[in-house]
Formats: sequence, structure tokens, C-alpha cells
Amino acid sequence: MPFVHFDLNENIAIVTIARQDKMNALNPVIMDELESIFCALEKNDACRVIILTGAGEKAFVAGADINQFPTITPDEAMKISRHGQKLFTKIERSTKPVIAAVNGYALGGGCELALACHLRYASENAFFGQPEVNLGVIAGYGGTQRLPRLIGTGNALDLLLSGRMVSAQEAKEMGIANKVFPLATFMEDVLKVAKLMVQKGPLALKYALKSVYEGQGLPIEKALEVEAQMFKEVFNSQDRVEGCAAFIEKRKPLFKGN
Ligand code: COA
Repeated sequence: MPFVHFDLNENIAIVTIARQDKMNALNPVIMDELESIFCALEKNDACRVIILTGAGEKAFVAGADINQFPTITPDEAMKISRHGQKLFTKIERSTKPVIAAVNGYALGGGCELALACHLRYASENAFFGQPEVNLGVIAGYGGTQRLPRLIGTGNALDLLLSGRMVSAQEAKEMGIANKVFPLATFMEDVLKVAKLMVQKGPLALKYALKSVYEGQGLPIEKALEVEAQMFKEVFNSQDRVEGCAAFIEKRKPLFKGN
């Protein structure tokens, strides 16, 4: 694919958005490529964890491609927003953990893409922000909804109304980034996290994600019911039998995802 490629090694897929001359800004081709790669990885049992990153050391993704903005009509804008929201929700609903390895600017649609991932690890040179207001527009790929859910309304509005960029460290303090890693060892450090998850039961990862995301926004009684259902699902798996047997036999489990 021209802009997005992936490597699958030891059950970890690294998906890289590569449009370095434009800070990896998202154009319609990249959106389509992301869609088909995430569809393929969802179906591929060899893939257990996904890392999403940007090519180079300057940008994760510096937003949607601003060059398309001057000519789009309001109706086209709505379509573009819905299309991006659908893709990012697909990423968020992935049954495998998706880690954003934020290796530079994550701005606008790039920040929204990182927010749709389950975890965000930032290199020390990373910046996060929703600078759409600088252009007289707003976030349209889920940012006005995912950001307040993640960091609270006050902190989200701080970014959404000021358009300011925050450093990796400030993003960590706000709760956007899970952790900040040194630039020199960044991908190694992110891979260590992914390798830890690969050792876990794939169904346990799937149902932990499902329980969290399906429960979000529901009243607590209903959300707890979702958890009980997912708890039932994992107990109906060979992975549960294997995981518990391995603990009792003092050996490493061999999870097969069934
Ligand atoms: N859409 C289209 N092109 C973009 C882009 C975007 N979101 N972000 C960066 N680019 C392009 C620049 O136009 C420039 O292209 P050119 O070399 O053909 O002029 C190239 O990427 C390099 O960017 P440049 O601005 O020269 O790099 P910088 O290091 O000075 O600044 C940023 C980096 C990310 C701070 C700056 O590019 C920026 O503010 N980008 C826009 C971010 C934004 O508003 N995103 C939200 C969009 S809704």
C-alpha cells in the first residue's frame, strides 16, 4: 500500500502511517488503507496486539489533510466526519489491544486517532493537541467525545477551545498518554508492553476490552451486567482451562485463543 504498511512478527503487528513529507497527515487514501489493514488484522489469528505509529521521528499524525478543507461543502464535511468516526470506532472496537506509539506530533485527527486506540505511549518529543479551532473548525473524528471521556470535560475543553499543544509530559499528567518513553529506546519500550500482552490469553484481552467499552456510558447496574456476561464468556474457553492449569502446575500457559 502506498502510505500505510504493516509488519507482523511474533504475534505483534506494527502498522505505520508513512507520509513523512506531510507529517503523516491523513488523506482519503490513508483512511481507506487503515480500514483494510485493520479489517485484515482483525481476522488474522496470528495477530494478537497492534501497534500504530507514524513514520519518522517528527510526527505520529499531524491531523487530517488541511489542503482538502478549503473546497469541501458543509454536506461533504458531515460525510467526512462520519466516515472518520466510523473508521476510528472500528479501531476502538478491535478485539485485540491497539497501542498508539505516539512518536511526534499527534494533532487534530492524529490526536483523535490516538484517542481511538486503547493505549497511548508517547516518545519524549511528542506533542498532542486539537488545533482545529485555529482553522475555524472543530474536531470531527470523535475528539469532542473521546477526549472528555478520557480526561474529563474541563481538561478536554482546555485543549479543544485553546487549540494549544501539550508536551508528552503534560499529556501524561492529563491522562492522555499512559507513559512517556525516551526517544532513543521508544519502539523497544513500546514493544516490551506489547510482548507482555501477547503472553496473555487472547480471549481474556478481547473480553476485557469488550467489557470496558460496552459498559462505558451505561448506568452502573447495566454495566456490571455486561461485565458478568463477559466473565461468563471467558469461563467458556479453553484458555481459562489452560491458564488455571498452568498456574497450578507452575508452568507458563500456552494460550490458543479458543
Ligand atoms: N495537513 C496537510 N499538510 C500538513 C499538515 C496537515 N494537517 N500538517 C503538516 N503538513 C505539511 C506542511 O504543510 C508542510 O508541507 P510543505 O513542506 O509542502 O509546506 C509539511 O507538512 C511539513 O510541515 P511544517 O509545518 O513545515 O513543519 P513544522 O515542523 O514547521 O511544523 C506542525 C509541524 C505539525 C506543528 C505544523 O505542520 C502544523 O501545525 N500542522 C497542522 C496541524 C493541524 O492543525 N492539524 C489539525 C488539522 S484539522
